[in-house]
Amino acid sequence: MGAHPDPELFRDVFGHFATGVAVITSAGPSGAGGMTANAICSLSLDPLLALVCFENRARTLPIVRDAGRFGINVLSAAQERLAGVFASKLPESEKLEGVAHRIEQDVPIIEGSIAWAACELRELIPGGDHTIGIGKVVALGLGGGEPLLWYRGQYRALPG
Ligand SMILES: Cc1cc2nc3c(=O)[nH]c(=O)nc-3n(C[C@H](O)[C@H](O)[C@H](O)COP(=O)(O)O)c2cc1C
Repeated sequence: MGAHPDPELFRDVFGHFATGVAVITSAGPSGAGGMTANAICSLSLDPLLALVCFENRARTLPIVRDAGRFGINVLSAAQERLAGVFASKLPESEKLEGVAHRIEQDVPIIEGSIAWAACELRELIPGGDHTIGIGKVVALGLGGGEPLLWYRGQYRALPG
């Protein structure tokens, strides 16, 4: 068991790490789009850096690469439907259509997000079947509201 860990158990183990849910947005020469993500992390305070892990097949990855920018939109409990839209394989150009958003530092920021950051892409680092995107935070803000949570493969809300 220890020498050959099971990928299913790997998913289950890390599925026990409860997280929030974010949408990574981007817009540039390759169009606009985004994807739902929970593999995000604050990385450095000086300078301000954040990271996102992109599946190599995510269509958002080339958009981010070409734009050189991305946004991190932390979803509220009221935005579960949006999490579904951005986790889908809807044509990329349709994902942001009809979703209220504004542009901050050339990055689409979704209205109603409880917190957001606009980042300038600094590095793309290979990580197996994913690519780690490191961004320098160039703008930040808070929106208020309760977070959407992800735990063991299901959306949740804070109790009470
Ligand atoms: C809760 C949740 C978290 C996810 N986290 C990630 C993630 O961190 N990185 C990633 O590449 N995909 C993640 N996904 C899957 C992507 O959202 C999904 O593959 C999406 O279709 C990618 O969209 P795109 O191909 O338009 O970029 C997650 C999905 C869900 C529902």
